[in-house]
Amino acid sequence: METPLKRLVLGITGGVAAYKAAELARLLVRNGIEVQVVMTAAATRFVGPATFQALTGRPVYTDAWDARTPQGMAHIELTRGTDAVLVAPASADFLARLAQGRADDLLASLCLARDCPLFVAPAMNRQMWLHPATQRNVAQLRADGVIVLGPAEGEQACGETGFGRLIEPPQLLDALDAHFRPKWLQGLHALVTAGPTYEAIDAVRGITNRSSGRMGYAMAHAALEAGARVTLVTGPTCLTPPAGARVVPVVSAQQMLEAVEAVVDTVDLFIAVAAVADYYVLNPSEMKIKKDAHILTLELAPNPDILANVASRPQPPFCVGFAAESENLEEYAELKRRRKHVPLMVANDAAEAIGSEETSLVLLDDEGAHRLPRADKLTQARRLVEHIARLYKAQTA
Ligand code: C5P
Repeated sequence: METPLKRLVLGITGGVAAYKAAELARLLVRNGIEVQVVMTAAATRFVGPATFQALTGRPVYTDAWDARTPQGMAHIELTRGTDAVLVAPASADFLARLAQGRADDLLASLCLARDCPLFVAPAMNRQMWLHPATQRNVAQLRADGVIVLGPAEGEQACGETGFGRLIEPPQLLDALDAHFRPKWLQGLHALVTAGPTYEAIDAVRGITNRSSGRMGYAMAHAALEAGARVTLVTGPTCLTPPAGARVVPVVSAQQMLEAVEAVVDTVDLFIAVAAVADYYVLNPSEMKIKKDAHILTLELAPNPDILANVASRPQPPFCVGFAAESENLEEYAELKRRRKHVPLMVANDAAEAIGSEETSLVLLDDEGAHRLPRADKLTQARRLVEHIARLYKAQTA
């Protein structure tokens, strides 16, 4: 991933989740980020500095009196020129020290002396997290402009279950990365449809398609990091929705239409990425249909066109459609754009795009065709969000 985050100080405090910081350090380095690790004394009881030195290729700092930096003032020099400080895991004790503005070890002093954004990812026993003192400290940190990532809910190392787990390393990287992305859609509400729909034939069988949902989820991800509020109406997929989206799971096209209609009046953008089934089965059987030797005939009726419905409302949101075509890509997609009355239609080759990780796109709008060369779907979604923002602003100016 090409990320605008180039240099990071990774602070590690004392907690069982410190072992996950090793995986995080590795992930950050793999994404081209220069990582400087600073550990508290307690953190070194859980994982040794040698591990982080090997993973980051840089010496690890643990001691406020460490004189290895040029001026011997590690608490100041280590953050200069750095894009951000992330403390992960952040223990209850460290949050308390931070909230009080203490400078009683290298990491705490460095957080106080920094001139860049500070992120903390708390990890602790659920009772420690819920304790009024911790909650008071976290509220104070938020008020001071510290960005708090998590904690997540789930099973804990102590055997209890609740809020207090460290956010997983890939999500931490996503949250950091998103902070530094341009806020093209700040203040806007985007509604995204994604994935296939499933039209039941009987209790266990149905008609669907090979859409993975990746492009729709990537659009939701890119819109979120561009500052939008996102509602994601999704057909059945195997994907994890991006953190921060309001997710409405649906199965059939009719359900997708109802979910869209429930919120469409409140949205600024409608981005229809879902591969909606063109037909549904009239009178699906509630029981599993028994096999026999006869020909089985299914009666199919056309599904509502969700995008065309939304675009034909008296005051529609800014509508974006996707057209997967097997031939005459640009011509057919442009016809679809006109027929559905949408300002932007995104054309892609059905064989190349459906179910795959990468795709090339052609953006069709009133100005003509804009070609986006082949790239992974999140990269394409970011380019597309920028284009959508430009058209949206021109339209509402
Ligand atoms: O007509 P076609 O299905 O190719 O159009 C694709 C575009 O229309 C996509 O944006 C898709 O999400 C949307 N669509 C829809 N409801 C349908 C069929 C397509 O919203 N029933």
